[in-house]
Amino acid sequence: MSDSFIIAIDGPAAAGKGTLSRGIAEQYGFHHLDTGLTYRAAAKALIDAGLPLDDETIAEKMAREVELTGLDRDILSRHEIGEAASKIAVMPAVRRALVEAQRRFSERPPGTVLDGRDIGTVVCPAAPVKLYVTASPEVRAKRRYDEIIGKGGSADFDAIFEDVKRRDDRDMNRADSPMKPANDAHLLDTSEMSIEAAFQAARSIIDAALSRNA
Ligand code: DC
Repeated sequence: MSDSFIIAIDGPAAAGKGTLSRGIAEQYGFHHLDTGLTYRAAAKALIDAGLPLDDETIAEKMAREVELTGLDRDILSRHEIGEAASKIAVMPAVRRALVEAQRRFSERPPGTVLDGRDIGTVVCPAAPVKLYVTASPEVRAKRRYDEIIGKGGSADFDAIFEDVKRRDDRDMNRADSPMKPANDAHLLDTSEMSIEAAFQAARSIIDAALSRNA
């Protein structure tokens, strides 16, 4: 058995997965990797170099150069980088390159929290804890809308809602590693649950698994 206790957290964008993952990593003193940022970093490198987003060989090369330390969430969270990331995330060679790096990260002792779309199914299928965090598309669009308005920006709810559905569709229907819960994942629907309640639910699942592993 590896020296690392792995917590795999999957689910669609804006379901609360990121906040939950960071909180869990902090609570247990584990390393955290938002794997979406790795797809975003590869996409940004292509955009910055003026390279095409539809050439798998070039995209794979960029993916192999992504450094997992120092991924900047603020810079990488830009909307057009997310769109580009979702396009290159359908490419098997890009996924292979990033999954290798993510697996290496997952082995860091004493434990790791990885969040993404395919952690429990593909990246770390033997993880002792798998959570699938979801919420209805309406709730997720509303959260994103409130976040933008809260930061003083302007937003169009209908456009955000359409965007959430389009992104889900691309992530769920791609041939390689589509987003879906692992058979043994615990489902956490946060549509009507506060982040605090989701955190407590996750903690009891993790504590039970930790005591089984002890
Ligand atoms: O979670 P995010 O919005 O930062 O992810 C950006 C894109 O990368 C998104 O379209 C899905 C994709 N992705 C993926 O295919 N597999 C992962 N493990 C994480 C993200």
